[in-house]
Amino acid sequence: MANNRDEHQSEDYLFKIVMIGDSAVGKSNLLARFARNEFYSNSKSTIGVEFQTQKMLIDEKEIKAQIWDTAGQERFKAVTSAYYRGAVGALLVYDISRRRTFENIGRWLNELQSCLSYRTLPFENPHQKLLAAILAPAGDENNKDTMLSNEDTRGNPRLQKAHSDMNVVVILVGNKTDLKDAREVDTAEGKAIAEAEGLFFIETSALDSSNVTAAFETVMKEIY
Ligand code: GTP
Ligand code: MG
Repeated sequence: MANNRDEHQSEDYLFKIVMIGDSAVGKSNLLARFARNEFYSNSKSTIGVEFQTQKMLIDEKEIKAQIWDTAGQERFKAVTSAYYRGAVGALLVYDISRRRTFENIGRWLNELQSCLSYRTLPFENPHQKLLAAILAPAGDENNKDTMLSNEDTRGNPRLQKAHSDMNVVVILVGNKTDLKDAREVDTAEGKAIAEAEGLFFIETSALDSSNVTAAFETVMKEIY
């Protein structure tokens, strides 16, 4: 009984972290390696949204991260505003052996920014509005913002919350470093874009495990 209180304190720190980046860069395998020390050489593209809750000790406190993973495929892009909601950290992953995935980093950053401030803006088209309404859990307080116009949100306390959501910690992750001979993006290039955009940077391999834990830990430590 005496320990009950300590155990419950871990509930104080639950962070939502999202995995983003083009299809097949290795988002799901990075998460599988981190959460379960598993790797799938023939993994299929993620369908829908999956998440893992992972505990970590930082400064002797138990931190819980709820890590969300979805498909990087264009045809699933519509889920994003609901996907990003409440995220405080993001791993933006590219594949060092496919330059195209590196060139798309800017797009992902734009999307991250627009989605995290999205709630306070009117919808661009009725299709997006409908999707957000469908995807939002029933009774979700936050979703009300998606239905408000700019005038409505002025002076609204939820507006401030939306802005604080924009302080999302992002780490740029160059994955598949084991594919040395197929490398198309130099480490220095990754570093440079991360510096320019104010992101953390790391190169990983979900296959041989290198830096996988470090990538997630960097985000979690920074959030905490
Ligand atoms: P979507 O769900 O479609 O967005 O893809 P994803 O980013 O989740 O990629 P996934 O983890 O499914 O990996 C795609 C392919 O790359 C799979 O065949 C993996 O086995 C492979 N892969 C992932 N990480 C690595 C890595 O570090 N090295 C190598 N060599 N292959 C990897
Ligand atoms: Mg996946």
